[in-house]
Amino acid sequence: MKRILSIALLLAGTTYGQTALFIPPAISGTTFNLNIQTGTRTFFSGYTTPTYGVNGSFLAPTLILNKLDSVTLNVTNSLPVATTIHWHGMHVSPQNDGGPGQLIAPSTTWSPSFKVLNDAGTYWYHPHGAGKTDLHVSKGIAGMIIVKDAAEAALTLPRTYGVDDIPLIVQSKAFDVLRQIAIATEDDTLLMVNGTVDPYLNAPAQVVRFRILNGSSMRSYMFGFSGSMPFKLIATDGGLLDTPVTLTRIRLSPGERAEVLLNLTGMVGATVYFKNYGSELPNGIYGADTVGTDTAFIPGYSANPLNGADYNIMKINVTASTGGAVTTIPATLGTLAPWPLSAVDTTRTFNLSPATADSSTFAEGPFVINGHHFAMDTINVVTYLNRTEIWKLVNHTLVAHPFHIHDVPFYIVDINGVPPPPYERGRKDVVLVMPGDSVRFITKFETFADASIPYMYHCHLLHHEDDGMMGQFLVLPGPAGISDATKKQEVQLSPNPATDILTLTSELFLSGSFSVKVYSLLGTEVAIPMEHSEDKLRIRTGSLQTGLYVMKIFSNNNVYVHKFEKL
Ligand code: C2O
Ligand code: CU
Ligand code: CU
Repeated sequence: MKRILSIALLLAGTTYGQTALFIPPAISGTTFNLNIQTGTRTFFSGYTTPTYGVNGSFLAPTLILNKLDSVTLNVTNSLPVATTIHWHGMHVSPQNDGGPGQLIAPSTTWSPSFKVLNDAGTYWYHPHGAGKTDLHVSKGIAGMIIVKDAAEAALTLPRTYGVDDIPLIVQSKAFDVLRQIAIATEDDTLLMVNGTVDPYLNAPAQVVRFRILNGSSMRSYMFGFSGSMPFKLIATDGGLLDTPVTLTRIRLSPGERAEVLLNLTGMVGATVYFKNYGSELPNGIYGADTVGTDTAFIPGYSANPLNGADYNIMKINVTASTGGAVTTIPATLGTLAPWPLSAVDTTRTFNLSPATADSSTFAEGPFVINGHHFAMDTINVVTYLNRTEIWKLVNHTLVAHPFHIHDVPFYIVDINGVPPPPYERGRKDVVLVMPGDSVRFITKFETFADASIPYMYHCHLLHHEDDGMMGQFLVLPGPAGISDATKKQEVQLSPNPATDILTLTSELFLSGSFSVKVYSLLGTEVAIPMEHSEDKLRIRTGSLQTGLYVMKIFSNNNVYVHKFEKL
C-alpha cells in the first residue's frame, strides 16, 4: 500500500507540492533549552505514528550560534530511554561532543558549555547512542545549526531565515505495516523535507540561499533544480568556499551539507522544482539504481521506487521579491587554507571492509574499520594535540560509505590520486568513499586534548554505524606534555624521560588532597607505586615498560594532564 502511495506521489508531477514547507523555529542567544520528547504525527491518514522531537513532536529547532560566543545547551531527556545529542561538525571538546559515552538518562539534563569556534556555516545535531543512532534520528531527532561570523556577515548574501535563507533537511523514512517508523529496511519510500511530505515553498524573486542537509539514514541524493537550472555552491560541511562554484547538480550523502544560491530574480509567477536526479547517481551508492552485484545484493533494494529514479522533492513558487533583496552573487567568499602536505606528521590508513569473508555481506554488511567493530572500551587511534595527519580511507566493499570524523574538519587531498573537483575543495567533515576507491584527507587536531575521553569516526550510514562501523580516537596533550600553557608551571617532572624514579614537584601536593592516575597511551590505567612527602611525589617507574605514559593529577576539581616517557 505504501509503495503505491509513493509511486502516486512520484508520478503526480504537476500536482506535486500540496503542503507548505515547515520551517523549524530558530532559536538564538547563548543559553539554549532543548527538551527531547515523545510525540505523534500523521504521515498516513488514519494512522498515528509515534515520533521523537526536540521542543516539539518532530525534528528540532534550528540553533543560531555566533562564532566566539560562549554558549550553554541544556539538553533535557524527557524520553523513556537514554539518548545523546552530538553537535555534528562543531569543534568542541570531547566532553561536550555528545558521543556514545555521554548518555543522557531519562529525566536528566546534560548541559554542555562551549565557545563557538567554527566558522560561519551549516552544521547539525542528532543523537549518537551506541546502536541507537538510526532509531533515534529516524524517529525525528535532528536539527540544524547555523553558525554566523563577522566574515560571512560582511558578504552580500541572503540571510533572512525562512524568507531567503531556507533550511532544507531532506530525509527518507521507512514505515512498518502499523505505520510506525522503521529502521534497517530498504523500504524508506517516504520522502520529506523538514518533516513535510509533498512540500511547496513560496520563495521570493531574488537570490535565495538553501542550506541543504542530507539527514537521511542511508540514502544519497543527486540534488538539482528542474530544467537543470544552474545554481552556485557557496559552502560545504565546514563553511564558505573561496569562490562560488556554478553547478547543476550536487551529490550529498548522509550527514553532508551544502549551501547553494539560486537566482530567482525576475521570475515572479514561475514554478521551479527542487529535484533528486537519482538516475545519475553512480551504482554502488545507496539511492542509485543498484548497489552490490548479482552475487551480493541487498534484498528488497531494487523494489524501492526512490532508488535510481528522478523525482521532485519540493515545489518552489516564485513570489514577489522582498525589500532589501539580494540580486547578485559575490565573486569571492571565504578563505580556504588546507594544511600543506609538508606539515604532515602521520599518515594512517582506514580499511573499510566487510566483517566476514562471506560474499553476501560485501554489500549488506556488517562492516568494520581496520577489522574492528566499535567497542565502547576500545580506543582505536591515539594522536596528539596539534598533529597534522593524512587519513587514507580505502573501501574494500561493494557499497559507498560516507566517512565522518568528529572534532575537526578536513580537506580532501585526493581521490584515487586525483585532486578533488572544485565543489569538494572546501572544508568537509563527511566524505563519500566509493567502492574500490581510496580517498585521502588532511586535518589537524587542534585546540582540544583529553587523556581519556575519545572522539568518534564512523560511516554516516546510520545502520552501518549502529552495526559497528565506528571507531574512537583520543587526542592526547602534545609532546610538551600539557594542553594548557597556564597550567604548565604548576607541576615539574624530573627527570623526564625517567628510568627508575620520576619526581613530581608542585604546591598542589602540599595540601595532601590530590590523586594521581597513570595511563598507557591506549587509555588503560596502570597501577604504579608512589610516595608523597611535602611538595614532592615520587613515582616508581622501574617496573613500567618503556614508552610514553599519560598522567592525570586531580586536585581541587582541576585535572592536570602530563605526559612522561619511561626509558
Ligand atoms: Cu553526524 Cu558521529 O555523527
Ligand atoms: Cu559528527
Ligand atoms: Cu557504511
